[in-house]
Amino acid sequence: MAGVKDAALGFFDSGVGGLTVVRAVQDLLPGEDVIYLGDTARLPYGSKSPETIRQFAEEDVNFLLSKGVKAIVVACNTATAHALPKFWENCPVPIMGVIEPGVEAVLADESAERIGIIATRGTIQSHAYQHALATRKRGLMIHGIATPLLVPLIEEDWISEEVTKEVINKYLDPLVAKGIDTLMLACTHYPLLMPVLDEILPGDVRLVDSATTCAERLKEMLEGTDLLNAKGGNGKLEIYLTDLSEQFEELAKRFLRRPTGKVRRAVLSAS
Ligand code: DGL
Repeated sequence: MAGVKDAALGFFDSGVGGLTVVRAVQDLLPGEDVIYLGDTARLPYGSKSPETIRQFAEEDVNFLLSKGVKAIVVACNTATAHALPKFWENCPVPIMGVIEPGVEAVLADESAERIGIIATRGTIQSHAYQHALATRKRGLMIHGIATPLLVPLIEEDWISEEVTKEVINKYLDPLVAKGIDTLMLACTHYPLLMPVLDEILPGDVRLVDSATTCAERLKEMLEGTDLLNAKGGNGKLEIYLTDLSEQFEELAKRFLRRPTGKVRRAVLSAS
């Protein structure tokens, strides 16, 4: 008989960027079924107000709960920054976000002292990363900057274009001038920029994203709540998007770096 351990894990993001987290989870926990929701109809979240993000996130969580998921990962930095604390109070299943794992990944290198953070406006203005880093380690120099032009450039697949390099240089020059030793990629889309960032930044700047640490923390959370799926083999992946277009399906493949299967349309409701 199928029990709660056999239920799927739920992930949501404003779009398909959160599939970078799904990919890391599939690598670590291949037997888990995954239901992914991308709110492509209302992307981006990064430029919206905290109230709007909280309302959207609530609808995203309700959708995943209606699919019977056993745990939820908020695979979106902006939604984690503004909405995760609200769910700690009332979510009926374990829920986690990407910020704590990201901070942990930064501090995994004890020599990290001067931290740059790039993210959406919403994430930077929430101060969620800055606060989480500062409370874990004293004396860090932390500089967060909003880099809103990067998401559209990535979605346009202009990653290696000169214009993208110029935009990155313009954003990052002040951080490089401050001598950062670590750059936190605090947005689900940014792992795709790693090759360009490696090319542009001084060789001693460490690039950090939250996906792998997030997968490790999720595994611990499932072990701690006795929800780890013990069945072998490969789990199923179901992707739902609130707006279906060829462009998003194509992008989903790029973020996941493996076949997505059939992508379905999701209709969300308030509660
Ligand atoms: N997924 C968002 C994040 O990680 C980036 C895209 C958006 O602004 O919606 O912050």
